[in-house]
Amino acid sequence: MQLPTQTVDYKDLKGRVIIVTGAGQGIGKFYCDYIAAQGAIPVIAEISDKGAEVAKDIQANGAEALYVRTDVGDEGSTKACAEAVLKKYGRIDGLVNNAAMFRNLSHKPFWDLDLDEWNRTLQVNVTGPLLMARAVAPTMKERKWGRIINISSGVQSIGYPNFIHYVTSKSAVVGMTRSMARELGPWNITVNTFWPARTRTEIDNSDLSPDRHKAQIDLQCLKRETTPDDHSRVILFLLSDQSEWVNGHNIAADGGYKFL
Ligand SMILES: NC(=O)c1ccc[n+]([C@@H]2O[C@H](COP(=O)([O-])OP(=O)(O)OC[C@H]3O[C@@H](n4cnc5c(N)ncnc54)[C@H](O)[C@@H]3O)[C@@H](O)[C@H]2O)c1
Repeated sequence: MQLPTQTVDYKDLKGRVIIVTGAGQGIGKFYCDYIAAQGAIPVIAEISDKGAEVAKDIQANGAEALYVRTDVGDEGSTKACAEAVLKKYGRIDGLVNNAAMFRNLSHKPFWDLDLDEWNRTLQVNVTGPLLMARAVAPTMKERKWGRIINISSGVQSIGYPNFIHYVTSKSAVVGMTRSMARELGPWNITVNTFWPARTRTEIDNSDLSPDRHKAQIDLQCLKRETTPDDHSRVILFLLSDQSEWVNGHNIAADGGYKFL
């Protein structure tokens, strides 16, 4: 696949090293393509070997990319990821905490939900961003610059039936972001939450029925389907120098669907 043509040139992003977790497929893959197209280096920190394909694809376009097999829910793995990146590039400028248990989760009333599934969801979706941030914070603090973006979801504000493990995890990310922003601000490191609207990617979207899809567009101010490109452009802004004064916020790209 060709890297996207971009109309905005974030010159400051050139050469910066950005870790994107869970970028082996879906929206995270788009973030990496956009990052690479700016001359920055995306690191695909992904539990599945699909991450290697994403890196190869980007390299085939003449850009730099690195795949590091990572389980964000495991502290040893997140530390090893940061070490591998520092060994290769000597810097980590940004982190997009995008990995999540999402598509394969069961949909059940909370009283029937298996506690193992609840625990694993929180481990990956909440402890994961914490561990990744802990792994990269020391080098960002040393260099007195950094960007951390924690990916949440619109469900955190409105709830969603039979999906309490996911909704709880995505709500926790919002509070975590605000605390991290307060702790890391003195080192010029910003931390924001970004949440994509429901977005179709190359992955099975059978849960997004045509009716539900239409209902979403009907509720948006802008009447077209949300695409991964809509999100990627905001991610670039949040990673760049241009977003310097945006910190601790909960930001969405949804064409005006839910106002928080
Ligand atoms: N697609 C949407 O409509 C939508 C809407 C709102 C929010 N989001 C959020 O955006 C993000 C990306 O969504 P998506 O649709 O591309 O998801 P996806 O399920 O297609 O991709 C998630 C990726 O995370 C990886 N992953 C899972 N567990 C991991 C672990 N322990 N360590 C490392 N990687 C792991 C998976 O292998 C997969 O590649 C998620 O955080 C999701 O919650 C998505």
